[in-house]
Amino acid sequence: MPGRTLDDVDVKGKRVLLRADLNVPMRDGKVADATRLERLLPTIRELSGKGAKVIVLSHFDRPKGKVVPELSLKPVAEALGGILGRPVGFAPDCVGPEAEKAVAGMKDGDVLVLENTRFHPGEEKNDPEFAAQLARLGDIYVNDAFSAAHRAHASTEGVAKHMPAFAGRLMQAELQALEKALGHPQRPVAAIVAGSKVSTKLDLLNNLVTKVDILVIGGAMANTFLAAQGHHIGKSLQEPELHAAALEILKTAAAKGCEVILPKDVVVAEKLEPNARTQVVRVDAIPPNAMVLDVGPETVDAFIKRLPEIKTIIWNGPLGAFETKPFDASTNTLAKAIAKATKEGKVISVGGGGDTVSALKLAGVHDDLTYLSTAGGAFLEWMEGKILPGVEVLSKAFSNLG
Ligand code: 3PG
Repeated sequence: MPGRTLDDVDVKGKRVLLRADLNVPMRDGKVADATRLERLLPTIRELSGKGAKVIVLSHFDRPKGKVVPELSLKPVAEALGGILGRPVGFAPDCVGPEAEKAVAGMKDGDVLVLENTRFHPGEEKNDPEFAAQLARLGDIYVNDAFSAAHRAHASTEGVAKHMPAFAGRLMQAELQALEKALGHPQRPVAAIVAGSKVSTKLDLLNNLVTKVDILVIGGAMANTFLAAQGHHIGKSLQEPELHAAALEILKTAAAKGCEVILPKDVVVAEKLEPNARTQVVRVDAIPPNAMVLDVGPETVDAFIKRLPEIKTIIWNGPLGAFETKPFDASTNTLAKAIAKATKEGKVISVGGGGDTVSALKLAGVHDDLTYLSTAGGAFLEWMEGKILPGVEVLSKAFSNLG
């Protein structure tokens, strides 16, 4: 665990600046998925229960340094209060007189949410003066926003240089789970990487083939690999400019002893629409007017039969066009099999990424993996082997300890 955790600090009576990720999906002005808020509860309850004044900092969406009233955190603060089961205050700015006044009025144990940090240009610029303004509001800094830790912003990185900094319980849980999955995993390790584009996951694939024993490639990105290998893929989505990169990944995998599993059969249809007429075909028999929209049952079953030999599974990306039935079938079947093996204690399973969380929710198994990260970009960057500035600064923060 890089850096210090809540075990290393007495927070009683202290003003704790808690960097959270309140960037939650909204629909009609209401929180549409509260998973990220629920995940924050252990840290907020612990801090508040120990008598800290909990001052929550977060960005919301991308207002680009301007005040955009529709991107206020006020409704999210209300939702957080509902989930927490107690009132949560709200300050209409995250720095300056209004924020200072709200903080000054807090009692031990109170929880206050400050307005969207990205309403200020200093946030994304990681402006030291803006970071110093944030730091003045608190005595210590706790970062519980792993999902924003790939951003070197004032509230995720700069502020930690001004005050004693600690990892919150969610940050701690994320890092421990990822370390277990890829840092020091029980082998063999299998990674399932799917989704629509190879281009967004090139770094991920290149890193994983050097670290895992088995790499399963699914989703539309598998089409690019199949086409690069010379298969005719009809009207399927693919990235022809990445054929060379795809073949290079397969070559590196072979050199490193990583077995790559590509679909052997696929589900095709002429259109991506609900309940479209589908056909299961082998990858060397994809009709010219068809699109590959899911991995086929034979490929999925063959991988499920190999689960008993696998000790750790990392999953990022749905196998098919899961939002449109019946192209959710392979994702559902695999998700259920991995959830079962996890519950039986046979495998450690770690998933992450926005679409992966949605797909596992639709499959009804999002609580059944060993760990499901709500991080998107940060999860990918960690899996790519990149250093996350928000995590790094915590490990360097020992000298700041109060
Ligand atoms: C996320 O939703 O992945 C995080 O909140 C980061 O958001 P960003 O991509 O706008 O920095």
